[in-house]
Amino acid sequence: MKKIVIEGGHPLSGNVPISGAKNSVVALIPAAILTEEKVEISNVPKLSDTKNLESIINLLGGEIDFDKSRFTVDGKNIKSIPIPIEYSSKLRASYYFMGALLGRFKHVEMHFPGGCNIGKRPIDLHLKGFKLLGASIIKEDDKYIIDAKKLKGTNIYLDFPSVGATINILLAAVLAEGVTILDNVAKEPEIENIIDLLNNMGAKIKGAGTSTLTIKGVKRLHKAKIAVIADRIEAGTYIMMGALAGKDLTIENIIPKHLEALLSKLDAMRVNYELSKDKITINKSEKLVPVNVITSVYPGFPTDLAQPMTVLMTQAGGNSKFKETIYENRMGQIPELIKMGAKVEYTNTTAKFKAPNKLKGKEVTASDLRAGAALIIAGLIASGTTKISNIDHILRGYEDIAEKLTKVGADIKIIDE
Ligand code: UD1
Repeated sequence: MKKIVIEGGHPLSGNVPISGAKNSVVALIPAAILTEEKVEISNVPKLSDTKNLESIINLLGGEIDFDKSRFTVDGKNIKSIPIPIEYSSKLRASYYFMGALLGRFKHVEMHFPGGCNIGKRPIDLHLKGFKLLGASIIKEDDKYIIDAKKLKGTNIYLDFPSVGATINILLAAVLAEGVTILDNVAKEPEIENIIDLLNNMGAKIKGAGTSTLTIKGVKRLHKAKIAVIADRIEAGTYIMMGALAGKDLTIENIIPKHLEALLSKLDAMRVNYELSKDKITINKSEKLVPVNVITSVYPGFPTDLAQPMTVLMTQAGGNSKFKETIYENRMGQIPELIKMGAKVEYTNTTAKFKAPNKLKGKEVTASDLRAGAALIIAGLIASGTTKISNIDHILRGYEDIAEKLTKVGADIKIIDE
């Protein structure tokens, strides 16, 4: 089993380049099969999630050509073949094949997607959207059979601005007849990236970045190009590492606008940084002021950065408080941080920190992707050795994390034991 081993206490200095956003690319690849023509996606990060999507494309009869970080998706020979559980359970985003195959072939059969175990994560809103567009849905155990004679544009209101439902319904609606008005949608930046690709392919979507999307259905889509935007969650994770261990640590290729909620909390904590157009240089802050963080949908504080943020809370003076509002269970890192010496009172959705606490290296387990990121940050500042198991979660979402950290002075390696 692969593990990450970190010897803590080394300052981080130099440059960390940020990769393309995981949550964009995992939707861009399925979106690309809405056309028979080739779609070129650049700035693709090397992640196990992208590999798993490639296996699904191959299973369906499509091909992906690579040239370093450029993927060309060829969906000419794709057919709507049932996607078995071994494929769909590898990642949450496999569900974007529901919208994409339904859009192109009006028929899809697949099992419930996988992904991090951070709460219930139902897909009722995705299915509601497909139904309103005219699809019928049969559920046999964990398998969904979604079929439509034709898809017809309509008004769809999402009860919650879900990222996944917004994208999935978009994928189905772009080739529907007539106009779909999709209301109360998510506004996460990754969604704009997907809309840019779809519009480049000939779709007619208006309202990107707002709560209402208007989609005028078109008959067919064509070849196009798109670059994956910078990963704001990866950037935020390294920024927090810099706040705790940086010595002029520069995080490059960032989009500051996407990081406003984090940066405003770091301002409140009196973290030292210098921001320019697309990079940030950050230094360890000797005295962090406690803060309250409540997660929310974009542009609020992202739930995906909240788990790494809890490590900063173990180092701030006084009582920091954290409340999770998106998922039922995003506290997987807390018991592990407690093992390492943090003083935290917590429930499934709230945590209160009695800090600062010196952290000590221990054997810990990554319960999910962002819990794993939090444990890496903790390991970097802990005394002694931290050994993290269950790291497949981490490798799903952070490109070359050990290499990037080694280059800036961390003592970190991936071992097999
Ligand atoms: C995406 C991101 C994930 C991030 C999350 C919130 C991807 C691949 N993953 O996940 O990293 O943490 O956005 O920013 O992009 N919900 C329902 N019914 C639905 C759909 C969602 O009740 O049909 C609920 C979920 O259980 C959750 C909330 O809505 O409580 C948010 O989920 P959603 O925005 O859909 O997140 P994901 O797309 O799964």
